[in-house]
Amino acid sequence: MARESRPAVAVFCSGEGTNLQAILNAARSGRLRARVAIVVSDRADAKALRRARRAGVPSCYVDPKRYPTRGRYEDALIRLLRQHRVQLVCLAGFMRILSPVFVRRFRHRILNIHPALLPAFPGAHAVREALAWGAKVTGVTVHVVDEDVDHGPIVLQEAVVIRRGDTAVSLLSRIHRVEHRLYPQAIGLLVAGRVRINGRRVLIR
Ligand code: GRF
Repeated sequence: MARESRPAVAVFCSGEGTNLQAILNAARSGRLRARVAIVVSDRADAKALRRARRAGVPSCYVDPKRYPTRGRYEDALIRLLRQHRVQLVCLAGFMRILSPVFVRRFRHRILNIHPALLPAFPGAHAVREALAWGAKVTGVTVHVVDEDVDHGPIVLQEAVVIRRGDTAVSLLSRIHRVEHRLYPQAIGLLVAGRVRINGRRVLIR
């Protein structure tokens, strides 16, 4: 299959971009039948931007401070998505909350990955909070983004056992291993049209 005939996905990142790397690797190897058409970051120093450049994938730093409102910022994002004919937006450590307007515009076409078994431990400190809670099991959730944070219908979920003596670093490294496998898999299911969403229920065919 010619590369360009693969569905185009965008990846939004703010930091390290290890999930982006996993997606790029899966797309390059053919395990994921999609291509990363554009990588977007809200941070100039995001390592994700370097990973995109290294992979020869278009990337763009969109500075939120250059826009007077969130709406205007998101208009700029939407222009980029249109320009690159993006079918699916993958949030991978993107530290901004997308407005309901943006979410409705791409209804069922935005995925997020979260380092816990939602609805447990939503928010930006999920790994630390699972440890502090004394949870025995946490995990990874890939979900469709809706108007609420860390809330939309769950596509894939996998547990990660918390071991005695785990630190945030050791636990995060095992969570990452699962994330890097689960995210490309979920993206593949979505772009292949194998995901049916009915309210909160996600049916995979
Ligand atoms: C991941 O752990 C993901 O679950 C969360 O943000 C982190 C991003 O990591 N949403 P990276 O930038 O992909 O390395």
